[in-house]
Amino acid sequence: MFNAETLCLRMNIDIDLVPKDERKEKPTDVLQVAFGTVFSDHMFSMRHTDGDWKDVRIHPYGPLLLSPAAQILHYAQGIFEGMKAYRRGDRVLLFRPEMNFKRLKASAERMVMPTIEIDFALHSLMELLKIDSEWVPEVLGSSLYIRPTMIATEPKLGVRPSKEYLYYVILSPVGPYFKEGFAPVKIYVSDKYVRAVKGGTGAAKASGNYAASLLAGTDAARVGYSQVLWLDAHERKWIEEVGTMNLFVRFDDEVVTPPLGGSILPGVTRDSVLTLVKDYGLTPTERMISIDEIIEGISSGKVKEIFGCGTAAIIAPVGSLWYKDTPHEVSDGQTGELTQRLFDDLIGIQSGELEDPHDWVVPVE
Ligand SMILES: Cc1ncc(COP(=O)(O)O)c(C=O)c1O
Repeated sequence: MFNAETLCLRMNIDIDLVPKDERKEKPTDVLQVAFGTVFSDHMFSMRHTDGDWKDVRIHPYGPLLLSPAAQILHYAQGIFEGMKAYRRGDRVLLFRPEMNFKRLKASAERMVMPTIEIDFALHSLMELLKIDSEWVPEVLGSSLYIRPTMIATEPKLGVRPSKEYLYYVILSPVGPYFKEGFAPVKIYVSDKYVRAVKGGTGAAKASGNYAASLLAGTDAARVGYSQVLWLDAHERKWIEEVGTMNLFVRFDDEVVTPPLGGSILPGVTRDSVLTLVKDYGLTPTERMISIDEIIEGISSGKVKEIFGCGTAAIIAPVGSLWYKDTPHEVSDGQTGELTQRLFDDLIGIQSGELEDPHDWVVPVE
């Protein structure tokens, strides 16, 4: 898939390891750890200045030294990715990592940031994972969450692209993303705030998108809901995606998700679900779905199941939608059949327990 030798010759990774007896304790029960709160012993980093990546290192995990004038802190020129490594005995497996690095590249281009060769991004991640492989947990439902991040570090006030960047990768052992686990989640439809517009940055994994989403999240929390479903910015009529997931609706036997129109994130899990649904002999459709069609379909019984999908949660059944001050129960608040099947198959393929007919799994070696 990539020629590591050539790349290593061009970009040597300096390695500074934490002495074995100073390494951190690993969580005894990773399923109980709050998502994204524990980090492994090492991280990867490199800096971009004068048109080149340099100081390519794997080193102890620790705080960054940043100027208070660093551009990321003022103008949010920052992007990131989210992916997972799974353990199968002695083997560590990645799930479609090249898609994440392609998306990182697309996000960098959108945010006028330097790009990283996909081969090198993958190679450097693999080197880091080899060093911290003991941090990849074994228990089903757990994984090592991987967070590649790029930020603008030039100490300069004034809105223009930074001339200096830091790229780094940190690793965090995780269990389920939602405190509900795989139980149905409650989703709040925001018709007051919007996340993205076509032509904006919604299709990029840009840090600012998430800051902009927080206020709607507080509205959701006020009525006891955990996630926000966004509607389109022009008409507040068409569903877009959830905070950290793409959304699918099963109307009778039609499995539908909104098309990638430039305002939603092209999810790796979304793409995988579209493929699996075809494998099941169903026809997935990418088309616009109005919130009214969903609410009417819930009343008439046409909506059989709704689920979100994303790297962090994998597949999350939706048990209830809150829209215009009214809760609407979906699938009697239970997990639907298709939702369950997709969850089982994805988690099985990702963790190497099930056959991988599409060659999605990449071993770390
Ligand atoms: C806004 C948003 N939509 C969708 C997704 C799902 O994407 P993926 O399946 O690549 O994790 C994510 C998570 O990365 C996200 O942050």
